[in-house]
Amino acid sequence: MIKPLRGMKDLMFDDAQRFVHIVTTAVKVAKRYGYSYIETPILEETSLFKRSVGDSSDIVSKEMYQFEDKGGNDVCMRPEGTAGVVRAFVSAKLDRQPMKQKFYYYGPMFRYERPQKGRLREFHQFGCESFGEASVYEDFTLIVMISQIFKELGIGFDLLINSLGCPECMPPYRENLVNFLTDIKEELCEDCNRRIGTNPIRVLDCKNEKCQSLLPQSPKLIDNLCESCESDFKKLTELLDEAGIAYTVDTNLVRGLDYYNKTAFEFVSNEIGAQSAIAGGGRYDKLVEYLDGKPTPAVGFAIGIERIMELVKMPQPQREGYYMGAMVPEAVEKVIMLANDKRAQKKVTVEYSSKGFKSHMKGVDKSNARFAVLIGEDELKNGTVWIKDMESKEEKTISLEEF
Ligand code: HAM
Repeated sequence: MIKPLRGMKDLMFDDAQRFVHIVTTAVKVAKRYGYSYIETPILEETSLFKRSVGDSSDIVSKEMYQFEDKGGNDVCMRPEGTAGVVRAFVSAKLDRQPMKQKFYYYGPMFRYERPQKGRLREFHQFGCESFGEASVYEDFTLIVMISQIFKELGIGFDLLINSLGCPECMPPYRENLVNFLTDIKEELCEDCNRRIGTNPIRVLDCKNEKCQSLLPQSPKLIDNLCESCESDFKKLTELLDEAGIAYTVDTNLVRGLDYYNKTAFEFVSNEIGAQSAIAGGGRYDKLVEYLDGKPTPAVGFAIGIERIMELVKMPQPQREGYYMGAMVPEAVEKVIMLANDKRAQKKVTVEYSSKGFKSHMKGVDKSNARFAVLIGEDELKNGTVWIKDMESKEEKTISLEEF
């Protein structure tokens, strides 16, 4: 028997319903904020992710589903959605238009990680990317929007925020940090020793306990921001306070992708174990330029759908549509014809075999239909149907024209 690959899952029944409910809810909210749907290819040139997510990031250096296709092209299954959306934005020359653009997307992402609870190799994200808006009001608005999505899904969360500075304040800070880390390098893990040379700020979110214990003394970017980054970050905290959205400033929140600057945030849940991040995002004002577009400020986020699956409070299923069945074999085809006509407007469950009343009523409950519609010998002869409203319990016999 062939099974799905490690870290990949089939989705059906209750889980599939949860999945659809999450996506439908997120789409509904995103549309209210002016986002329109974008679909980009799952397979892209590998260089796209190297240039955007970053060569030295774990995602690119260890976790890519990368291969050569039959034409000898170096391609990769997308590990995240932002890079493809930015590429599409530049490909369509939207960077040369004055209009601001807002896109939402959902779909599978692929990372060759070690599978564990909450960590899959194929997982799904719902994401939003907003282009052309440099104001911190947009960062705030995105955070409100995610909070709204989680509220409508009945999910509690903690919000972590940080500022990753900009090309003015990040380089001197990085130098400072490298000096600090070099002094304690003997005590840091092997990965962190490598990171000092490649991507020193990633040392800040190393999961190794020894490394973490040494970091409280490290210089903090938040204390070394330039004027513009500092005032934006202050504004963001004020806006969140005013909106009543609780947050924690986490100076070690650096995110696993290299394209961020200024605002970075993560939504976490303490109900799902070690892989607690349920959404993440931030500002990436330089990425459009890195991917050969005109300078365009941008900010976005992605929610991990599988991570919130078990947290979602599903709405009580309402009785809906019709259950239709025949009580004599001669009525079966009449029922099928009527059902297919009705399906032009309503959900209909049809039973193809002729059955007794009790057995049909079990089917009505199982299908959760609002109306039971049965045709027996008398109804067939008289051109009528028997119909029962399962909510009001009212039942009657009506003509086919009336039905
Ligand atoms: P990310 O933090 O790498 O950001 O992923 C976003 C979310 O995807 C995570 O918070 C988590 O819920 C989920 N996720 C990540 N990896 C896995 C996995 N292996 N298994 C299950 N769920 C996972 C991004 O991908 C950025 N593109 C977000 C963004 C959009 N930033 C700006 N715009």
